Amino acid sequence: MTSSTSPTRKLFIKTYGCQMNVYDSERMAEALAPSGYEIADSAEGADLILLNTCHIREKAAEKVYSELGRLKALKADNPDLKIGVAGCVAQAEGDEILRRQPLVDLVVGPQSYHRLPELEARARQGAKALDTDFPEEDKFDRLGGRARARRGPTAFLTVQEGCDKFCAFCVVPYTRGAEVSRPAEKVLAEARDLVERGVREITLLGQNVNAYHGAGTDGDWGLARLIRELAAIDGLDRLRYTTSHPNDMEDDLIAAHGEVPELMPYLHLPVQSGSDRVLKAMNRKHTAEGYLRLIDRIRAARPDILMSGDFIVGFPGESEADFEDTLALVREVGYGQCYSFKYSPRPGTPAAERAHVAEEVKAERLARLQALLAEQQEAAQQAMVGKSVGVLFEKAGRMPGQLVGKSDHLQAVHVEAPETLLGRIARVDITAAAPNSLAGRLSVE
Ligand code: 5AD
Ligand code: SF4
Repeated sequence: MTSSTSPTRKLFIKTYGCQMNVYDSERMAEALAPSGYEIADSAEGADLILLNTCHIREKAAEKVYSELGRLKALKADNPDLKIGVAGCVAQAEGDEILRRQPLVDLVVGPQSYHRLPELEARARQGAKALDTDFPEEDKFDRLGGRARARRGPTAFLTVQEGCDKFCAFCVVPYTRGAEVSRPAEKVLAEARDLVERGVREITLLGQNVNAYHGAGTDGDWGLARLIRELAAIDGLDRLRYTTSHPNDMEDDLIAAHGEVPELMPYLHLPVQSGSDRVLKAMNRKHTAEGYLRLIDRIRAARPDILMSGDFIVGFPGESEADFEDTLALVREVGYGQCYSFKYSPRPGTPAAERAHVAEEVKAERLARLQALLAEQQEAAQQAMVGKSVGVLFEKAGRMPGQLVGKSDHLQAVHVEAPETLLGRIARVDITAAAPNSLAGRLSVE
């Protein structure tokens, strides 16, 4: 890595949205390190502020503009402060941002983060800098040169970006572009590097991660093969992946859930609705029954798997009967933890043009769905009491002498444990459950 002779400058990145953005923010910080930037904890006193934005729900662009408005005072205090917008809103809005908000110095889409040092330098010279292209080159190649510092025991690793599914409500195919998978060798190299730096658990990321098809040493590898090869890395104890589409859950991936001990028993598999009519209108290309039978097969491979999902209520045309089909599906699956949203139109997507369900109806349905999901989550938490689980300890707890980690099933667990266990996995007997966390004690082995 080249080191800079310029004095250290402070970089503040505010990250919105999904884990992909968290990962991207880390990469942006690494890309800007050779330009002399160090991460700061707050916007105050920063020399460069980047908003890594998310466009997936609710008036995303408007929220970014109001956040930018709030930064005005900082720029008045420090005329040298540069402000950038990154992420999916940057991709979707492009130079409109520069036109609408003169505070902004640079706009960079998710495919162009390797060009940040150049864009930042241009902004420093007083020019407005914009890059929202979808280049042919592999941005991950250009984002190399990480500092080999030690890091926490869990990490995200992007293996795939973009989506070809075009669900009628979703902006991802427009903002993140077509599906692209990283070559397996590059993923493996990055994983080995992470493990050398102390990482024990890697979550593979992709907008449609189970559609992964990357070049391997002997032809094309699907996600299952990639997982098997990653699991063979010494010191890499846990693997997860998110987010998946039901139609890409291939047999070998389901089999891996039963055969690869490192692959943790938690799966986020969004279905969005339990009504075939709505699923069709959403262009999901699967039925409720197809999804349920898929879960049967996954559970046959890994009986203790904890299922997670995403739901949208009040999609255009959703009737009360359609919504009740969603409740019925939820009852049949029995989820451990879910995300649920009111439909909100995203400009440029097909569903945005359709007649919308009334806001009060959406709110009422969301409340009913969330009550049911909360009940299921509590039941799943309670079911852990009395069990012995593996916990990877990530940080100190709020109480002295306490550590917090994640169970195999991705539940937060608080345990009285020595600090020497930080970054390591230990067996824990679960003694109590709350809706969002578990408590336990170290098993005597
Ligand atoms: N309205 C509401 N929810 C949405 N999601 C995506 N687009 C929309 C939208 N327009 C939800 C889906 C997806 C999750 C990441 O966000 O449930 O799985
Ligand atoms: Fe969006 Fe996921 Fe559908 Fe792709 S599969 S269009 S990312 S909701």
